[in-house]
Amino acid sequence: MAEMLDMEIEMEGDGKATARTEKVGEMYTWHEGMPWNPVERVILERRSVRKYKDKQVPEKLVRRILEAGRFAPSAGNSQPWRFIVVRDREMIEDMEKYARLRCRMIRFFINWQTSPLGKLAWVYAQIGARLLPNLLHPIPFGAISLIADGKLKLFHGAPTVILILMDERGAAKPPIDVGICGQNMVLAAHSLGLGTCWVGFVEIFKLRTKWKKKLGIEWPYRLVEAITLGYPMGKPDGMIERELQEIDWWEDGVKRTVF
Ligand SMILES: Cc1cc2nc3c(=O)[nH]c(=O)nc-3n(C[C@H](O)[C@H](O)[C@H](O)COP(=O)(O)O)c2cc1C
Repeated sequence: MAEMLDMEIEMEGDGKATARTEKVGEMYTWHEGMPWNPVERVILERRSVRKYKDKQVPEKLVRRILEAGRFAPSAGNSQPWRFIVVRDREMIEDMEKYARLRCRMIRFFINWQTSPLGKLAWVYAQIGARLLPNLLHPIPFGAISLIADGKLKLFHGAPTVILILMDERGAAKPPIDVGICGQNMVLAAHSLGLGTCWVGFVEIFKLRTKWKKKLGIEWPYRLVEAITLGYPMGKPDGMIERELQEIDWWEDGVKRTVF
């Protein structure tokens, strides 16, 4: 079980709402002593799983998880998603090889601290950071180096990978719809005792025509995310401390700040 999650926030005023999650015995409870319900527990305890057992997930469970995705809400009910399930071990291994190669290339061109290109790599990094600010953010960039060195697998050794494609024609904000759809699947998987990890870095497969052809990805669909799926090694799920943000709370003509 995870560490103590103890968000103790006493609010000013009439004390209408005191946000507090506390641990009573082995149970995390809401401040009124009411236990989290099963849905809340899955939401609160889910963690990204990066170590999987060498055991395939039964097809019927994967189908069930895809159903949870299919039932997600979307703007204008446009359902701008399509799924590709990859359970072929050889294919996953080929994808890992490609990811390693691509990460080595990225590192060669833009890691000016180690690249033989020296200052030129610094220039490429500046251009890259402006063109792809999210992909080349310092956090994923650390992972790029680990993947390049074979110390981290893109799909973490999961036996099943769900690729999520976004339909560019979706109403309003298709990336949000796709995120909701993916999280539905993630939560359904954890409720079934499975582990998942989002893999945003899967976007690198867009850069190679061979993979786009093999996976049958063409307009209006764009590969945006992947979710790894498998039986977790150990018990990675559990609550951990999370950042606490201020919330502006308007009621009865008064604004309060709550957490
Ligand atoms: C959209 C998205 C993309 C992510 N991409 C990756 C990824 O490429 N590789 C990875 O190992 N984790 C990835 N993650 C997992 C995050 O690192 C993880 O959710 C975060 O560190 C919080 O940890 P937790 O999921 O255990 O609560 C991604 C998560 C999200 C939501």
